[in-house]
Amino acid sequence: MYLKKLKLHNFRNYKCLNVTLTKGINIIYGNNAQGKTNLLEAIYVLGLTKSHRSFIDNNLIKNNEDYLTIEGIFNDKKVDNKLNIYIDNKVKVLKYNGNAIKKISDYISLVNIIIFYPEDLELIKSSPQIRRKYINLELSQLYSNYFILMNEYNKILKLRNDYLKKLNKNISRDTAYLDVLTGYLIDKSIMIYKIRDKFINKINLYCEKIYKDITGISGFKIEYKPSIEMNLKSENLKEFLKKEYNKRFNYDIKVLSTTVGPHKDDFEFYLEDKNLKYYGSQGQQRIAVLALKLSEIEIFKKYKEQIPILLLDDIFSELDENKKNNLLNYINKDIQTIITTTDLNNIDKKLIKKSKLFNVNNGKIIKIKEVKLDE
Ligand SMILES: Nc1ncnc2c1ncn2[C@@H]1O[C@H](COP(=O)(O)OP(=O)(O)O)[C@@H](O)[C@H]1O
Ligand SMILES: [Mg+2]
Repeated sequence: MYLKKLKLHNFRNYKCLNVTLTKGINIIYGNNAQGKTNLLEAIYVLGLTKSHRSFIDNNLIKNNEDYLTIEGIFNDKKVDNKLNIYIDNKVKVLKYNGNAIKKISDYISLVNIIIFYPEDLELIKSSPQIRRKYINLELSQLYSNYFILMNEYNKILKLRNDYLKKLNKNISRDTAYLDVLTGYLIDKSIMIYKIRDKFINKINLYCEKIYKDITGISGFKIEYKPSIEMNLKSENLKEFLKKEYNKRFNYDIKVLSTTVGPHKDDFEFYLEDKNLKYYGSQGQQRIAVLALKLSEIEIFKKYKEQIPILLLDDIFSELDENKKNNLLNYINKDIQTIITTTDLNNIDKKLIKKSKLFNVNNGKIIKIKEVKLDE
């Protein structure tokens, strides 16, 4: 799949933009604060309905305007499909080939986007919440049912937490209802645990080799760390979890929240036995995230039979020559890649030769060089 055309209206510093991209490599260069990241962000929002760098949709609307639109023509196996987003300060409308899509779960699995950007290191360095959010998003792109499952889980979790508050304040003393909620919660939890576990296992089939191909160092892996140790293959998993919830019954009432479950999961990155969160250099952390994301490309290809679109925001300046070249081996012409940089000298000449080149200046884009691809 690739993004053929992109149209923006009132998105960040773009008043009006209309670009045609190549299905191979697109390089967007320009000085700082001209709109490089904004362009990638627009593509990300178009695919995933939310920005990777702002929680507030209104920030995306150009200053002093009251709405924005993003439109993209995606080509998949020679068929064109159109995605549109309209955002104002009240509504967000998603459309696929002109038809409004009500369910976000149906929308975000339509196109697959993988973005890599300098702040990505946060994925390793910051709190488990950030990692859960990331994994949830990736799994929602892979399986639309996962998004629905997470919504159901969160709803039951909220009901359970609300009920814990009632028990705490003695507004209610009926624990049978809590048991019912706990039962539902555990059913959903088991499904989520299994999907996440499988996903990490799949990632691990690829990421150690990718890490090694880029750095020459072996022993990289990602570990799934649910908040309780359990055997996901056990036939008595449900009973086991019920006991765990019961053990925490009084504690949960005291702290007014459910203290175990998928909403407390974590994922850790290891190089041999070294947890990269605490013992990794910035460089190692960077490559670890890159290896994770490049592994996802393989997973999308294999399980969704769809090649995602790769967005690389200003990452070449952070990598040394060797790693840059090794990374470039992964960016070949069967994956559409959109690269931004402030300095073309950071990018290999051979790559520039194969790429479509754009210059961005104050929210305006000029095509500098076309590229001929053998179809
Ligand atoms: N909502 C907005 N309306 C207008 N301009 C914006 C908005 N949000 C950000 N900008 C402008 O976009 C520019 C930053 O663009 P960005 O794509 O992050 O730059 P870079 O080219 O360095 O990646 C800044 O000049 C900023 O003022
Ligand atoms: Mg930028």
